[in-house]
Amino acid sequence: MSALLVRDLAQLVSPLGREAPLRGAALREIEVIEDAYLLVEDGRILDVGRMSRLRGRRGEIEELDGSGLSALPGLVDCHTHACFAGDRVDEFALRAAGASYEELHAAGGGILATVRATRAAGEAGLREAVLKHRGWMLRAGTAVFEAKSGYGLDRETELASLRAIRDAGGIPTWLGAHSVPPEFDDADEYLDFALAEVLPAAAELAEAADVFVERGAFDVVQARRYLVACRERGLALRLHGDQFTEQGAVPLAVDTGARSVDHLEATSQDAIRALARSSVVGVVLPASALVLGRPMPPARALVDAGGAIAIATDFNPGSSFCESLPLVCALGVVQLGLTPAEALAACTVNAAHVLQRADRVGRLAAGYEANCTLLSAPDWRYLAYHLGGDIVEGVVVRGEVVWRR
Ligand code: NIG
Ligand code: FE
Repeated sequence: MSALLVRDLAQLVSPLGREAPLRGAALREIEVIEDAYLLVEDGRILDVGRMSRLRGRRGEIEELDGSGLSALPGLVDCHTHACFAGDRVDEFALRAAGASYEELHAAGGGILATVRATRAAGEAGLREAVLKHRGWMLRAGTAVFEAKSGYGLDRETELASLRAIRDAGGIPTWLGAHSVPPEFDDADEYLDFALAEVLPAAAELAEAADVFVERGAFDVVQARRYLVACRERGLALRLHGDQFTEQGAVPLAVDTGARSVDHLEATSQDAIRALARSSVVGVVLPASALVLGRPMPPARALVDAGGAIAIATDFNPGSSFCESLPLVCALGVVQLGLTPAEALAACTVNAAHVLQRADRVGRLAAGYEANCTLLSAPDWRYLAYHLGGDIVEGVVVRGEVVWRR
């Protein structure tokens, strides 16, 4: 039996209750304990409370001094593209000089440039890349991460990507419909291949499937065909929707019972209301909106309409070369109009819900997995307040201190 006590914490914070996803006003309900402890046994949280209530314990116990630190539920990044090789720093500079993301994509750059580099990396190269990105995420405070394939778009590289993500401790999503690779003439022909040749094996490795619904990628008819086939294989459904243009991703997400629809920069008022009334979580990705100069997603309107949101990095080499959930939370507050408590719930309990883990991940409460992000700050709201600050002191995953400054 292994036990860990984090003692003398300046603050410990957690979204309240047990239910998920939190929606509307419930997103703001948190519990803050001052002068707190966190007690862990065998990877689970045994108890949290005030130091004055801590009872003596027998047996071997590792102690961690939390003086001056704040403890948050381990941060959950529910939307990343962490399995890629190469970079797109040249395109970044071209965009700075006026080229648009969509123009670069149409000219064979963008996603397809990363597809070429990812295919060339081989499985060992991809494993190395995911582990490196995993290290970056840990240092930014991420305890649990999802990562998508989608830069292989052939059988071998898609499956190698899913294995690399799984073996690095990530939660794999098959983004088999990210773009149409150059060896196919059109999206339908590519989907024939992907659903017949890749889906059966991808469904054994991934927990969810994702599709990029956009002009130049997949339309709603093609996306529906992909999603329905993936659902039949037991995968949860996710969509990249309304990033540049509104193509009907929200009604499709609601209709297919998707877990989430992500991006929403171009979502209309009607679709915001429909999404808020549904059980689909709206995942907002303000770093990619910022990098691409897109309008910020309507997180405030969604929450005010009673909707459930999550917030994530969208970490990828093109639209969001940013692995930091604290930075994204800062954008959530100063750009999306969320309160710090809403931003916290959006990247803990609600992100865990998107990943089908909210029964055991996303809160600091007895019985939950002992995942904790420690900030070197006397107040947990530094999470969003210290813009770009070096504030992560350590990360605990299932009771193990997996990274410490
Ligand atoms: O979520 N929009 C599609 N996919 C990614 C970008 C991928 C890339 O540019 O490589 C996104 O922004
Ligand atoms: Fe994305």
